[in-house]
Amino acid sequence: STPLLIDKYGRQLTYLRLSVTDRCNFRCYYCMPEEGMDFASRKELLSLDELYQLASIFCGLGVNKIRITGGEPFVRAGIIPFLRKLSQLPGLEEITVTSNGTLSASQIKDLHQIGIRKINISLDSLDSDRFHRITRRDSFASVYACIFQLLESGFEVKLNCVVAENKNIQDIIPFVELTKKYPLAVRFLEEMPFNGGTDFKVPLWSHQEIYSHILGHYPVLEKLENPFASTSVNYKVPGYTGTFGIIPSYSRTFCGTCNRIRLGATGELRTCLYGPAATNLRDLMRLGWTTQKLQQEILEAVSHRKKDGFAAEASLIQIGAHASMSVLGG
Ligand code: GTP
Ligand code: 5AD
Ligand code: SF4
Repeated sequence: STPLLIDKYGRQLTYLRLSVTDRCNFRCYYCMPEEGMDFASRKELLSLDELYQLASIFCGLGVNKIRITGGEPFVRAGIIPFLRKLSQLPGLEEITVTSNGTLSASQIKDLHQIGIRKINISLDSLDSDRFHRITRRDSFASVYACIFQLLESGFEVKLNCVVAENKNIQDIIPFVELTKKYPLAVRFLEEMPFNGGTDFKVPLWSHQEIYSHILGHYPVLEKLENPFASTSVNYKVPGYTGTFGIIPSYSRTFCGTCNRIRLGATGELRTCLYGPAATNLRDLMRLGWTTQKLQQEILEAVSHRKKDGFAAEASLIQIGAHASMSVLGG
């Protein structure tokens, strides 16, 4: 019988987050500096074949959901044929994607044809100037249009909005209002210390603060049942079409049910977003390790998982102050 990825606290890891590139066409302040980063070279990146082989090994270990992340996944050349091949992997029930919403109409069509039905789009403001200040790109109109194209094409769309003082507090209520008419799931996130630099302050807007702010405008909120291992706590304004949620990404109240494992674009394996890389699977694969030995390496990494994940305060030291979400893979 094949081993499964079960840690010593009984959590089974069934959800792989696969970063296909560390590059991005945006420069969100909370993710990387204006000048970008020391991006991986082509050779350093896992090739699409290597990504496929590793995904296949994870599915052999019980992973049934893969989320494609980046950087921005769609800046990786060959991503559509890769996803088409990936979708045929035995044991894989669902592929989902996190993108900044700069997909073309033909990419949207291809994703649907491949069988992908869920996509998460990062959108931090509904105002084009604030969007520009946050992402350092003037692409609000096209991202906004992309969201509605996705809805019209039948995708289930979640929006991720990183909440921060002096950036987008004015947008919180308009985002909730967007769920009145549209079947969107808007999620508000606490900022995390992965901005590719050293200047990080504990977020002023914690999940409690975000919740109180919203409650101040909508005295009655319906609390929804959370899907298993959900990072977001979800609500609905009674009578609205869509829903909203709050993700305590900094406070992390959800580690107890965490079912995620991460593979970075250059092969780093992480069993916690806030923890150091347990190993580099790219290096081992390039040394010619067999599937069985790679499986053992992954099982070994999982056996070292901590009950409550790694402490947020320690993460800057443990991962390095220059960690960026685009490298960690979301
Ligand atoms: P679903 O699969 O739809 O539940 O999406 P998701 O929330 O897993 O994926 P998405 O890429 O949209 O992630 C949204 C945000 O959730 C991330 O940017 C993080 O802020 C947060 N998040 C996801 N997984 C973890 C995790 O393991 N730890 C922490 N601290 N935050 C996470
Ligand atoms: N803090 C919180 N969220 C972040 N994201 C990227 N960097 C950070 C950060 N430092 C979000 C993006 C995207 C999701 C995968 O992670 O907005 O929606
Ligand atoms: Fe790009 Fe996403 Fe990072 Fe923004 S948060 S720079 S869209 S990878």
